[in-house]
Amino acid sequence: MIKAFIFDLDGVIVDTAKYHFAAWRRMANELGADFTEKENEKLKGVSRMDSINLILSWGGVTLSEADKLKWAAQKNEWYLEFLNKMTPSEILPGVLPLLKDLRKKGYKIALGSSSKNAERALRKVRIFSYFNTIIDGTKTTRSKPDPQVFQMGAQRLRLKPEECIVFEDAESGVEAALAGGFYVVGMGSPKNLGDAHVVYSSLEGLTIDSIIQAVKNK
Ligand code: G6P
Ligand code: MG
Repeated sequence: MIKAFIFDLDGVIVDTAKYHFAAWRRMANELGADFTEKENEKLKGVSRMDSINLILSWGGVTLSEADKLKWAAQKNEWYLEFLNKMTPSEILPGVLPLLKDLRKKGYKIALGSSSKNAERALRKVRIFSYFNTIIDGTKTTRSKPDPQVFQMGAQRLRLKPEECIVFEDAESGVEAALAGGFYVVGMGSPKNLGDAHVVYSSLEGLTIDSIIQAVKNK
């Protein structure tokens, strides 16, 4: 029986994936490098330091560990400039009605994000109070595709993975959820999220029951 819904943040609840992309690209460009939107898919769900390592390797740029930390902090400052301007209007379509219905019907709600800025983002768009538990990049030691973030969420809720549905827009996140034994809804395109139990392009108009039925039908 499904008892909880665990949401990734960036690209599932709010469209911050585009802000991460813009900030990382600005950094890459300042270092004389660049990367494509397709490569960017590989950054989704991946921690800040793992991301910088990937971008530098794609661009053939070598930096000292100290410089990596400096550039990662700079990227975060640029990212926060976007984040600090966010309003509740940037919650993705269908998310708020779903959260409200989940609460009404007594389902548990968790956040499972790699971001260290997750709490700030949830407060900016005023949905922090919907979550029974928040697991983010400040609490995990291993980044997706490791299932740790979702396992910690399920543990906090005292539930088994098979009682939870994870919502993910990242290839690494779908992989993480499957590795942990969770049901997973991919948010985006079946082209790269095809391993998920079901893939939707948007949560708009979806009901709790239709989602549960869809993941169990695979
Ligand atoms: C999420 C995003 C990634 C981001 C990571 C760390 O998983 O999808 O693009 O790199 O969080 O975010 P942070 O806010 O801690 O830099
Ligand atoms: Mg995401």
